[in-house]
Amino acid sequence: MQAHSDQARISGKTVVLVPTMGYLHPGHLSLVAEAKKHGDEVVVSIFVNPAQFGPGEDLEAYPRDFDRDRALCREAGADVIFAPDPDTIYGPGYQTYVTLEKLPQHLCGLSRPVHFRGVATVVTKLFNIVKPHAAVFGQKDYQQLLVIQRVVRDLNFDIDIIGAPIVREPDGLAMSSRNTYLTPDHRRQALCLSRSLDRARERVQAGETDPDRIRREALESIEARPDAVVDYVTLCDPHTLEPVSTLNRPVLMALAVKFGKTRLIDNRILDPRP
Ligand code: PAF
Repeated sequence: MQAHSDQARISGKTVVLVPTMGYLHPGHLSLVAEAKKHGDEVVVSIFVNPAQFGPGEDLEAYPRDFDRDRALCREAGADVIFAPDPDTIYGPGYQTYVTLEKLPQHLCGLSRPVHFRGVATVVTKLFNIVKPHAAVFGQKDYQQLLVIQRVVRDLNFDIDIIGAPIVREPDGLAMSSRNTYLTPDHRRQALCLSRSLDRARERVQAGETDPDRIRREALESIEARPDAVVDYVTLCDPHTLEPVSTLNRPVLMALAVKFGKTRLIDNRILDPRP
């Protein structure tokens, strides 16, 4: 992979990386489309990264279908698939990890304590292996995008990080490889995530400035679904993820809700300005 990228760079091509864990859906394909706008050689990495799963999480169950992913990548116009096996990435004696001091202490980092260390580490490694000029990440994993942007700044990677909008099912559910775990009943109940974000936007547009009221309203409507178990509903600063006490500037509203073993996340920027 490194030799291939060196060659592409020598011949003047711009390399753009789309890191994924596979089981691709239209959200991923929108990242490939975005990548194509920014470069000549689009590399999709497919790697279910053990380091970002905690004990008891869904590493083994995580859906995988390489043949299908390969066909989808081809159709979407990706040039290269980089799909290493875990021993290539974390060989014997592996012991080097990238950790951040503050960003992981919020949102998903609270219930998934090793997650962002795993993400920051594997993405750092992918950057060194694929040597891209730019990399595209989805905004559904908003905190992940902030973590990557921070790592790039802090470690002086010469890589442009591009955030791409959330892609939704027609009824509003944010696309995720984990949606395939949902039973039909949980799939219906899961609409409460995007609906509570829609409702929050309406309330802010109508002049609500109290983040606690918006949060309580969202909690009530989500907890009204029989199987929803809320991990968090947070209104926070979109750069630091610190909680906010008033809505006088754009704020991130982010949620994580479990249905059975399936943990879903979603988010939206709430902008009080007219
Ligand atoms: O967003 C994902 O699918 C993963 O967290 C990533 C960025 C590919 C790192 O494993």
